[in-house]
Amino acid sequence: MTTIDRYGVMGYPVSHSRSPVIHRLFALQTNQKIQYELLQVTPENLSTAVRQFQRTGGKGLNITVPHKAEVTRLCDQLSARASTAGAANTLTFRDGEICGENTDGIGLLRDLAINLGITLEGANILVLGAGGATRGIVAPLLEMQPASLRIANRTLDKAQALADHFSRSGPVSACRFNMVPVSDEYDLIINATSAGVKGEAPPYPAAAVSAHTLCYDLSYGLKPTPFNEWARAQGAENSVMGWGMLVEQAAESFHIWRGVRPETAPVLKQMRFSA
Ligand code: ATR
Repeated sequence: MTTIDRYGVMGYPVSHSRSPVIHRLFALQTNQKIQYELLQVTPENLSTAVRQFQRTGGKGLNITVPHKAEVTRLCDQLSARASTAGAANTLTFRDGEICGENTDGIGLLRDLAINLGITLEGANILVLGAGGATRGIVAPLLEMQPASLRIANRTLDKAQALADHFSRSGPVSACRFNMVPVSDEYDLIINATSAGVKGEAPPYPAAAVSAHTLCYDLSYGLKPTPFNEWARAQGAENSVMGWGMLVEQAAESFHIWRGVRPETAPVLKQMRFSA
């Protein structure tokens, strides 16, 4: 009897996750037989749940909020990307070991470069927020050799700590929201705060937005996020949610697990329309 390889996404809460739909679409498209489960796991139960999934023959897991940093402690092997990000979103169970990878950064880069057609080399980038989400994307963005990358945050210390941490990888600096220099023109502004999710609208730096600035919210939903609406109101012609990053990071996970790379464009289209 052939058994079907088991995968899943672990988070808390996780009921809203689109990962099961995305992975099922990838599996259909590439003719792979997999099972993909939604696994709601509290922080206290993370370790037990991961080990139980491993023990019962599970092949791989996606890890989402709030477990991405904590799960790195359970990994026997951590990729360079996961270790730089201090977080893992993809676990592979292989030869009795847990291997942690982070596909969020590469997912973002692929969305920006391939789906949205933006050149990051030589670009001026502003990242809003200095939490876990920012920590995960700074190194991949710096790899693309932007002219500058500024991290703006409500709390300066956290932005400064991240800028210091990544300063050897490229031209990164930090400031408060209200201290973003008005003379700076940004090609890309990424909202990596969790303010929108909490229904809050912080005083984002309006002067940083011009018509040509691509405004990108890492979060996504049924309708434009408060950041997306704010950016449009400032005159940004291009203001998008993170659907593309979601689908691209999933494709990277699928590739790690199954050795085949699914086509993301049709899945992304379907996700946007069914959103
Ligand atoms: P995540 O892992 O999603 O990045 P986090 O580590 O809790 O979550 O970080 C949340 C980020 O959103 C932080 O940069 C936080 O700013 P502070 O460092 O000043 O706390 C930012 N954030 C959340 N709510 C905010 C709000 N209402 N206004 C401004 N920034 C906010």
